[in-house]
Amino acid sequence: MEKKSFYITTPIYYPSDKLHIGHAYCTTIADSVARYRRLAGYDVLFLTGSDEHGQKIQRKATEQGVTPLQYVDKIVAGFQDLWKRLNISNDDFIRTTEERHHKVVQAIFKKIYEQGDIYKSNYEGLYCTPCETFWLERQLVDGKCPDCGRPVEPVQEESYFFRMSKYQERLLTFIDENPDFIQPVSRRNEMINFIKGGLEDLCISRTTFDWGIPVPIDDKHVIYVWFDALTNYITAAGYLSDDAKFAKYWPADVHLVGKEIVRFHSIIWPILLMALGLELPKKVYGHGWLIVEGDKMSKSKGNVVDPVGLIEEFGADTIRYFLLREINLGMDGNFSRDALIQRINSDLANDLGNLLHRTLSMVEKFNGGVLSAPNEADEVDASLIELASKTVAEYEHLMDKMDISPTIKLVWAFISRTNKYIDETAPWALAKDPAKKVRLDTVMYNLVESLRVISILISPFMPNTAPKIWMQLGIEKDFASVQLVDIKTWGQTPVGTKVNKPEQIFPRIEEEKEVAAQDTTKTEKKVDTVKAPIASAEEAGPSEITIDEFAKMDLRVVKVLAAEKVKKADKLLMLTVDLGNEQRTIISGIAKHYEPEVLVGKNVVMVVNLKPAKIRGVVSHGMVLAASVDEALKVVEIDMPVGSKVK
Ligand code: MSP
Repeated sequence: MEKKSFYITTPIYYPSDKLHIGHAYCTTIADSVARYRRLAGYDVLFLTGSDEHGQKIQRKATEQGVTPLQYVDKIVAGFQDLWKRLNISNDDFIRTTEERHHKVVQAIFKKIYEQGDIYKSNYEGLYCTPCETFWLERQLVDGKCPDCGRPVEPVQEESYFFRMSKYQERLLTFIDENPDFIQPVSRRNEMINFIKGGLEDLCISRTTFDWGIPVPIDDKHVIYVWFDALTNYITAAGYLSDDAKFAKYWPADVHLVGKEIVRFHSIIWPILLMALGLELPKKVYGHGWLIVEGDKMSKSKGNVVDPVGLIEEFGADTIRYFLLREINLGMDGNFSRDALIQRINSDLANDLGNLLHRTLSMVEKFNGGVLSAPNEADEVDASLIELASKTVAEYEHLMDKMDISPTIKLVWAFISRTNKYIDETAPWALAKDPAKKVRLDTVMYNLVESLRVISILISPFMPNTAPKIWMQLGIEKDFASVQLVDIKTWGQTPVGTKVNKPEQIFPRIEEEKEVAAQDTTKTEKKVDTVKAPIASAEEAGPSEITIDEFAKMDLRVVKVLAAEKVKKADKLLMLTVDLGNEQRTIISGIAKHYEPEVLVGKNVVMVVNLKPAKIRGVVSHGMVLAASVDEALKVVEIDMPVGSKVK
């Protein structure tokens, strides 16, 4: 049977500048939907690209003394690099400067002209160059562009016009008959009111600059950038070049766009398609904007967040997770570094990371890493299995509606349930009683099976992490061939599967100030911590611990092999230490007390089984002990061979 098709697009971005985290947000949403549809068995076409013509680009290129093409080539290479880093699975990347696109734009201009829907006249009005939008005096807000608030310029030139007004009533009828066409509903109402206010014919050519596709019947004119841009969606689907492809993918299932360009996609674009006699897209979804620490991003405010830096520091999946989980699709959402770190530590390191780590460690410890057949199921198992099946069903329902954040919350509710299952079944107690071996096997099986389900459910959002979990679970099937049906029936993990050694997938992030505080002002606390691992930093003094608790700590003598300052962090040093049988990197908050070279060659005491933590983008695997009084601080040096245990 032929697979059902699914065609999703992002806006094509202007290469007037580098992309920021807001653009990455939009493309990440589209990517997660495309990945979900592939998982659900669809034949997906996922398109993104660049919108390279227009006055704004031409001006930027002139400012830099290069040709427009030289200018955009460089920036577009940056777009493609960003999508690779973010693990975006687009099937095509369209550039409006490509020949395949020129042909289509010119052909449709000609067709519409010949059928009488394009005519020549004089345009007199206002233009917002950053938005590449025409405005009428009455549409301005405080004399400025109503979309971006920037000044507009008067424009007076001979132009070709597209008879939009002719299609006004047909468009209103279409919107009325297709309640899901414009989403969310608030945008739909806004658009209906806009259309009812009366559509003007649209100016679709310019003569005052030449960076555009020439009007085929009049080479004094270039085609207006939005007429050119919107057409990308049919060019890439094979219009006029590949009939079979076009028949398969058109009409598009979703054009995902930012809220301020819903108007172009739900008014100009459908009318253009009507004029061409083509079907209209099934949905235009207007997502909200990402704002930063409560403020709109802008160069002048200096708050533009570069996604490349964030990906380098935290990893692509973490950023993807945050964007998709934190913001409800139709609404504006806030990006903040603190909120990001909080999510990483609580949802990823704690909930998901711990579940995986605990499960694999227990299978290893209690059963030599091998999964035995599940047998004795009781009520706790039944409730876990029932929730897994409900979760998968609800997941599909929500993802079909593009309710991404609620979907992620749903998956995390299952992760929490599975963590609770460990507490309820207490495998460590079962392991002590050989008579309970069969019960223990069942619990271990259900935990691994839950993680198999979870890994598939998170794969559209975290495409790097999902196969990593799969690999640690030791399941042999190739993750790339996994489908949603694989988790519709419980118990697909093969008995006899040998799990792998657990590896931290999400180390906790400790901000510089926390580490620095740990190693300097609270050094006495840190020494306390050595004696009292369960004492909280907030407690007045160390509480008592048992000898068993103390024994959990692995303290060793290590030699500092190298030390260097951590860039842009005045309290941190990065140390490379030798443990005798391995070398490790650790971050230590002692830069105010030691020049790096002074430390090299010293034998010091280190906590070697401290949970790894990511600090300033580097994973720190341990902590060097130091003693302090008032402002003074000294690492605990010791004249003993490397590898000696401190007890
Ligand atoms: N080139 C046009 C789109 C043509 S589509 C046929 C364009 N380009 S753009 O680069 O200015 O914007 C592309 C998209 O990025 C828009 O959907 C816009 O809403 C989105 N975003 C820009 N800043 C954003 C945020 N801060 N947050 C979320 N999305 C944002 O418009």
